Amino acid sequence: FTLLGTAFHTPERGRLEVLEDHLFSIDAQGRIAEILAPGHPDHAARVSDASLSGTLVRLADGQFLLPGLVDLHIHAPQWPQMGKALDVPLEVWLQKYTFPLEARYADVDYAREIYADLVDNLLANGTTTALYFATVHVEASLALAGICLEKGQRALVGKVAMDDAQQCPPFYRDADAASAVSDTRRFIVAVQSLDSGERPLVQPVITPRFIPSCTDAALRGLGELATEFGCHVQTHCSESDWAKQFVEERFGQTDAASLDGFGLLTRHTILAHSNFIDGQDMDLIREKGAGVAHCPLSNVYFANAAFPLRVALDRQMHVGLGTDVSGGYSPSLFDGCRHALSASRTLHSGVHAGLPPEQRGAPGEPITHQEAFWLATAGGAEALDLPTGSFRVGHEFDALLIDTKASTSNIRINAADDTLDDVFQKIVLNAARANIARVWVSGRMVAGQ
Ligand code: GUN
Ligand code: FE
Repeated sequence: FTLLGTAFHTPERGRLEVLEDHLFSIDAQGRIAEILAPGHPDHAARVSDASLSGTLVRLADGQFLLPGLVDLHIHAPQWPQMGKALDVPLEVWLQKYTFPLEARYADVDYAREIYADLVDNLLANGTTTALYFATVHVEASLALAGICLEKGQRALVGKVAMDDAQQCPPFYRDADAASAVSDTRRFIVAVQSLDSGERPLVQPVITPRFIPSCTDAALRGLGELATEFGCHVQTHCSESDWAKQFVEERFGQTDAASLDGFGLLTRHTILAHSNFIDGQDMDLIREKGAGVAHCPLSNVYFANAAFPLRVALDRQMHVGLGTDVSGGYSPSLFDGCRHALSASRTLHSGVHAGLPPEQRGAPGEPITHQEAFWLATAGGAEALDLPTGSFRVGHEFDALLIDTKASTSNIRINAADDTLDDVFQKIVLNAARANIARVWVSGRMVAGQ
């Protein structure tokens, strides 16, 4: 099909590009085949061809196209407890609420019901790509992969590995290191055969929960799988003081260095949180080409901290945004953008460093709304090494149709006063689920109408 309208995207960090009245041709495989500006000599002919063949989608007044959103860190099984129990510390939340909930996914029917509801809701919120933690259970994790494939969400899914008998309760852990590794292998092979195309929509991820929950033998075995399969890896890294100290006491070195020692830090690794990484960790992460899933909302609760985002970006690390449901209480990456902005502006206010009012929030330190949107789209896609996140010929057509005039919209646009740059900022700061009129993944309509 062919789409005619105005699109916003941030192909490079912090740079908004407005594609006003452009034409987007989507090929039969769901990739962007052509992008034509209105001045292009073929523009008018393409529009009339598509119109005649009934394949033209023309955006109405007040409608705009955005790239689909990439959630770089989300726990699928925690969907039923989103918004609950955030008033206790991480280690209590895990043992008292989260492990008992996740243990229920031994029941594959329960898993199917929750995961189907989750994926529908994430798509409706504009999440076209998600990097998921599932649970320790191979069957339930495969059910999540299958549901993503069926519903058309681009997904990277991990069967969680957690075998340490001291840190994990008897009712919720891998039986031992050998089975944590062999179940992960079985899961990888099964997901790869579920979707064996050249451009798989769903991919497996090696997922040690975090170092405290895994034995050395499991970490070593998972590192070997990462080398063998070359697939993605995800884990939690230096999230809270407790988690960071635990690793340093056990290994005498940081999370990032320890993960690297086990072969778990690769170009396809995503480290969630990473609030307490130091300069050497950053150099190591950058050198390996790994990425960080910045989860600003969750960090306010479990870390009582903010990730040093500006420093990481200045060091050219890959960074994207994660909702961390249910450590974060919102499934929306538009909310994620706002929380990232708020965390960054607070972090760089300078109040606690004793800066006088006129020097607080120096330009260039807090992130901008264009940078926040980049994190939620192209930044996440680059971290995952996936051809999505911005409108470019050859990229997958993963996109949102934003309707600023939806009946329950909070967005007000005055054509006389607002430039297109203003409209973009209003969308980033105010778009809600009601504004997401339609969602495509690889050209397939997966939400809206
Ligand atoms: N660290 C280990 N497991 C988890 C989890 O499920 N959520 C968060 N936020 N941190 C973790
Ligand atoms: Fe998490």
